[in-house]
Formats: sequence, structure tokens, C-alpha cells
Amino acid sequence: MSYPQIKPHGGTLINRLLVGDAHEEALQRAENLERIILSEINLADLEMIATGGLSPLTGYMRRADYESVVFNMRLANGLPWTIPVTLAISAEQAERIEVGQEVALVERNDAGERILAVLDVSEKFGYDREAEAKNVYRTDDGKHPGVARLYRQGEVLLGGPISVIELPSRSHNEFADLRYTPEQTRAIFAERGWRRIVGFQTRNPIHRAHEYIQKTALEIVDGLLLHPLVGETKSDDIPADVRVDSYRAILEAYYPASRVLLGVFPAAMRYAGPREAIFHAIARKNYGCTHFIVGRDHAGVGNYYGTYDAHLIFDNFTPDEIGIIPLFFEHTFYCKSCGAVVSLKTCPHDKSHHVVLSGTQVRERLSRGELLPEEFTRPEVSRILMRGVQERI
Ligand code: ADX
Ligand code: MG
Repeated sequence: MSYPQIKPHGGTLINRLLVGDAHEEALQRAENLERIILSEINLADLEMIATGGLSPLTGYMRRADYESVVFNMRLANGLPWTIPVTLAISAEQAERIEVGQEVALVERNDAGERILAVLDVSEKFGYDREAEAKNVYRTDDGKHPGVARLYRQGEVLLGGPISVIELPSRSHNEFADLRYTPEQTRAIFAERGWRRIVGFQTRNPIHRAHEYIQKTALEIVDGLLLHPLVGETKSDDIPADVRVDSYRAILEAYYPASRVLLGVFPAAMRYAGPREAIFHAIARKNYGCTHFIVGRDHAGVGNYYGTYDAHLIFDNFTPDEIGIIPLFFEHTFYCKSCGAVVSLKTCPHDKSHHVVLSGTQVRERLSRGELLPEEFTRPEVSRILMRGVQERI
């Protein structure tokens, strides 16, 4: 028997993929349109919008939504939304584009150019990058990777709905077997009879603390969607293919296959900490999750955010508005004296008993050819990471 599923954000699951005649027509029309070359983050957003992961968005944001999101953490209609999803172009290109016309959105790589979508330009507008940085990222420091990307992008935004002819080539070439759309994850959850599903966002290899919070959450729900982000990350994060290898290895050895689904999340990382936690939660609701794990410094980078800021930001919204239930976890780590993964809430011992490694320490050890401590990461994961890191240096 199947159960009613959680509603997508805004009530309707969006699908912007053209089929049949509309697909053929758009392809022909697009040939003669002004071309916009999509950046990595644009490509990721396009796939997310097309497949409904960013429902209710149907395209790149117009001014009213953009400004409302930046300053009030809501779309213009009041629905919670914390991250701008925009298409920035240069002022020079903007001069050639009239509001009301269509433009072609193009992927450019070694194989050449491919038209992916048509954007119906409803608005063209300037915006304040510093204001976006300060509000969305809580800093205007150009060293923050999300802010740095924002400062590099063009000075004019195009807003309007997109009609997608073809998904970015990576959707066929990278993790194609794990690239479930929201419609597909929802169908799998229904088929497996899962009513309550917890989503787990990650951009890092799974270590013991991740495994602990995932399995603790799994105790109170029916299934776990392990949902690593595979869109653009900063250059010193562990690459997605190495991470995905490590997820596959650990799932096979230590997770019950009947209660876990591994899928990939096409979005790009913003490193916007608390604001991105809300964004990640809402997107996972679109994928059909009823619960979402928010741990320590979710989507954080460096020291820009407080350890629990990503928990506190949920207080700005009512549970009904968010819909998906956040499961907040303390900072967890292995304690040698407890002989288990614990948190400050559950462990009586001081720091000297705890095994805590930063991402930088992990990368340094691996590049020196040292495996990670077993209390930190399972050896299966450690070996895969070591191979991955060594191959690239
Ligand atoms: S990220 O997108 O949040 O940057 P990351 O892989 O670092 O990805 O973390 C995935 C999830 O696990 C996040 O919810 C994060 O808060 C949580 N998390 C990571 N490490 C710990 C830890 N040691 N204790 C508790 N939660 C953690
Ligand atoms: Mg982290």
C-alpha cells in the first residue's frame, strides 16, 4: 500500500523538460537566439530547476523574488527561500538582450557548444553584490568561496522561466545510475513503502560522525536518502567521484540495503552555512524526504559561521512553512574512553579523549600517504580516499 507523500515546496513538483513537438520546436528556435554560456553553478541550477529539485522555481529569479530572498529569506509570495538562484551576464551582453525576447542557454566544453534550454527573458536588472554577500553569506570577504564566485559573476541578472531541451552532459556522464530526479526518488520511496524518510546532505567523505548521525536518525524513520552533493565544490574539497566510491564501499559493508538509497544531488555548493541549510532542507523535501539532518556547521566553510547557526536559522520560520522536519545534531566525534561516537551532550570526558580532525588535517594526512585513524574513518573509506588524493597530486 502506498501512503500520501510530503508535498513539494509550494505544492507542485516542477518539471521544465520539454518533450515531443515542443522539444523539436524549441531546438529549432534556439539556433538563432543570442547565446548565453552557462557557468558551473548555472548548469547545476538548470538541472535542479528542470527536474523539480528547486520547486516552485521555474527559472532564474526575477527582481521581486531575488530581493525578497536576499533581504527577507522568502520569495515574493512569502514562501521561505534563502538562496538566490540567478543568471548573471556581463553588462555588455545585457545590452544586446531585450526584455520579452528569448535567449539560448548553452553548455560549452571540449566537445563544443550545446544548446540546453531557452530562457524567456521576463526581466533584466542590476543588483548589489555586496548586499547579497552580506545577507546571504553573512560576510563580504572575497576569500569566502561563495562570495568569491559572486564577485566574479556578471553585473546584470536575467530572470524568467526556462524550457529545457537537454540536461547538462554530466547528467548522462557522471553518476548516471545515481542521478534520481525528485519524481524518481518519490517513486522509489513509495515502492519501498517508506513513509518517513530522512535526507542527508554531504560534500565530504563519510566519517564515523556522519555514520553515527545517519544511523541515529534512521532509528526513528523508515529510510535514509544518502544524498551527496555532486555539483561544483571548492577545489580543495575531495572530488565527487572519489567520495561516491567511498559511499558505495561503506554502504555495501555497513548499511542495510533495504533501508538506504544512495542518490546524488546535482546542486553546486554555495558554502552559505545557515541559509544553505534551509535551501538544502527544502530541496530534499522536493525529493520526498520528510526529515532532514542538520549537524554541526552545516554547509559551512572556514570560521564564517557559528557551529549551530544552521540550527538557529530555522527559528525564523514556522514548522508548517518549512514542511520537512529538521533533525538537529550536536558536534559528534569518537571518544577513546567511551569507545563510541559521542557528543558533548553524551560524553563526560574532556577533549584529550576525543578524536577530532579538520578537513584540512584529513587532506594533509592523505597527501602525505598516511591513512586516517580508524576511530575517525573506516579503513575502507580511508583507502579509497588515499588512492583518490594520491592520483591527483
Ligand atoms: S556540508 O554540506 O554540510 O558542508 P558535510 O559533509 O561537511 O557537508 O556535512 C554533512 C552533514 O553532516 C551536515 O549536516 C553537517 O552539519 C553534519 N556533520 C558533519 N560533521 C559532523 C560532526 N562531526 N558532528 C555532527 N554533525 C556533523
Ligand atoms: Mg562540514
